[in-house]
Amino acid sequence: MLRIYLSPPHMSGHEEKYVAEAFQSNWIAPRGPMVDAFEREMCEYVGVPHATALMSGTAALHLALLLLGVKTGDKVLCATLTFSASANAIMYVGARPVFIDCDRKTWNMDPNLLEEELAACAEKGRKPGAVIAVDLYGQCADYGRIEEICRKYEVPLIEDAAEALGATCNGIKAGAFGKIAIFSFNGNKIITTSGGGMLVSSDGEMIRKARFLATQARDPAPHYEHSHIGYNYRMSNILAAIGRGQLRVLDDRVATRRRNYEYYKSAISELPAIEFMPIALYGSPNYWLTVILITPEEFGADREAVRLALEAENIESRPIWKPMHLQPVFRGCRARGGVVSEDLFTRGLCLPSGSQMTYNDLERVVGTIISCCKATKSLKKSKSVPRRSHG
Ligand SMILES: Cc1ncc(COP(=O)(O)O)c(C=O)c1O
Repeated sequence: MLRIYLSPPHMSGHEEKYVAEAFQSNWIAPRGPMVDAFEREMCEYVGVPHATALMSGTAALHLALLLLGVKTGDKVLCATLTFSASANAIMYVGARPVFIDCDRKTWNMDPNLLEEELAACAEKGRKPGAVIAVDLYGQCADYGRIEEICRKYEVPLIEDAAEALGATCNGIKAGAFGKIAIFSFNGNKIITTSGGGMLVSSDGEMIRKARFLATQARDPAPHYEHSHIGYNYRMSNILAAIGRGQLRVLDDRVATRRRNYEYYKSAISELPAIEFMPIALYGSPNYWLTVILITPEEFGADREAVRLALEAENIESRPIWKPMHLQPVFRGCRARGGVVSEDLFTRGLCLPSGSQMTYNDLERVVGTIISCCKATKSLKKSKSVPRRSHG
């Protein structure tokens, strides 16, 4: 039985033409016309005037913090329910993360807890260096409120949109919020360059500085002159060529992943004790991953049992991100709240959501989940297992 992966890379067929062009032009370097064009096309797509293509989303987060002047000893408020890269970058600059729990209605940073923490910081006269809000599993955080709160406390906001290219919040595309935003083109993302990232901002000076730092901070001189510590973070022209081919099908990818979500929803949402990640009223996600919660007492199996049952059928699924405040590496870091993300972690499972998934694949996943459910198990005994239609 062929393996079904969580979110594998999916080439569109447009990439080879751009890659061939890059080879023919001999631009096999971490700069070149494909990089320039990919940055321009991303700006057009996201609706932000400036962008710089980098080697990874993690590199983009690191530069974002440096550009905002975050330094040793500063605090950075960060969503606790995220991938570790969001928080690792805080450590790279010697700052300390403070983890903020998520809102049950969106699974993203809870604006009320953010405001409480910023108010507490203001009372102590210690303004944090930045806030990092994350667009979890392809759904934007509540920027209507988060931007307003950050403005009120005069703390710069970084949007970690690594997972959310193609999503919107109040009609504005992910990546257009805060002082600066980042994307990832890692192999598992909705579009990929195999590995890569991008910084986007409406502040052209900030992006110019990012490009400077990302290319070893070479001062203008005929020899190698350096007055800043630099990094080797620029994206290769070849990878940018892949990115251009992928960008052409981004909207199709969102539509396909939405189809996956809707299929799952129609097939299993009526099973007892299954909930789907809520879709916030303020926006539309890119449906990067479909994520469910399983309440074991009523379902008859817990998240881990369902994950193992899927694995036995050669189907990859994953628990939700383990919150950062529970990670051994961040032991001792402050957290505001935490019970919501802890509950989501205990019960949450990310389902296969790739854009090549066939109805057969979806059917295999759904069939396995249904077979774990107490209600279907007892029905099975009486030999009539209901299968939902999925139009
Ligand atoms: C929320 C989030 N932030 C940052 C990153 C880091 O991106 P990259 O893997 O491109 O370094 C990822 C994913 O990989 C992510 O999911």
